[in-house]
Amino acid sequence: DLSPIDRAKFVAARRSCNFVENGMRIGLGSGSTAAWMVRCLGERVRTEGLDIIGVPTSSRTADLARQLGIRVASLDEVKWLDITIDGADEFDENLNLIKGGGGASLQEKIVATASDRMVVIADVAKEVKALGAFPLPLETVPFGWQTTKALVEETLVNMDVLGREATLRMNDDVPFVTDEGNYILDLHLKRIGNPRQLSLVLNQIPGIVENGLFIDICDAVVIGHGDGTVEVRD
Ligand code: A5P
Repeated sequence: DLSPIDRAKFVAARRSCNFVENGMRIGLGSGSTAAWMVRCLGERVRTEGLDIIGVPTSSRTADLARQLGIRVASLDEVKWLDITIDGADEFDENLNLIKGGGGASLQEKIVATASDRMVVIADVAKEVKALGAFPLPLETVPFGWQTTKALVEETLVNMDVLGREATLRMNDDVPFVTDEGNYILDLHLKRIGNPRQLSLVLNQIPGIVENGLFIDICDAVVIGHGDGTVEVRD
C-alpha cells in the first residue's frame, strides 16, 4: 500500500541491491530511499546468508543496519569500498548531484569518493535540467558561522546562480547539528549554471567544510517510477 513516490523509491532501492555480491564492502547511504536499500540488504543477509560489510554514512543508517543484522564497520577499518549506494536530492543529465537534505552529505561524500562505484537510487521527480532548485547544503564550522555566511553570500554575487540567500538550518529553536558537530547553511540558488566551478569556489571559503554538490562521483542512477518500473542510467 505504498504511495506512488514511496513505491518509486522502493523499486529503485530494490533494484540497486542486485549490484551487491557476496564479500563486498558497501557504503550505506542515508535518507528514506537508502533506508529501503538497507532493508533489502538486511533481508538478503537473513535469507541468503549474504556476507557483506556495510560502512554507514550516518548514525541513523548505522542504527538501522545493525538492527537488521548487517555487519557494520567504520571507513577507517575498511578503507576502500566496492560500491556505495545512496539517495540524492537532485541529479542532472551528467549524473552530477545535490545531496544533503538529510544533513549527512559530508560523510556521504567521503564514503562515495572512497568507493570503486557510486550508485544513486532516486524517484524520477529528482531528475532536473539544472541543479539548484533544491537548496544546496554547506557543512559549516560553528565558529564564526555568521561571518562565514556573509562571505558565502558575497562570493555568490560573482557566480552563475539565480538566488543568493543562505539560511542556517534549524531544529526547532536551535541550530541543526550534523553528526560531525557542524552547522548547515542552505543556499537557495534556484539554478546553478556551473556546478563544478561553484563547488570548487565554495570549498575555498574558510569555515566551509564541504558542500552538497557531487561532481563526477556518481557512476549510475537507478530511477524508480510510481508505476513500479525502473530504469538505470550510466
Ligand atoms: C542525506 O543527507 C541526503 O543526501 C539523502 O540522500 C537525500 O536527502 C535523499 O533523501 P530521500 O531518499 O529521503 O529523498
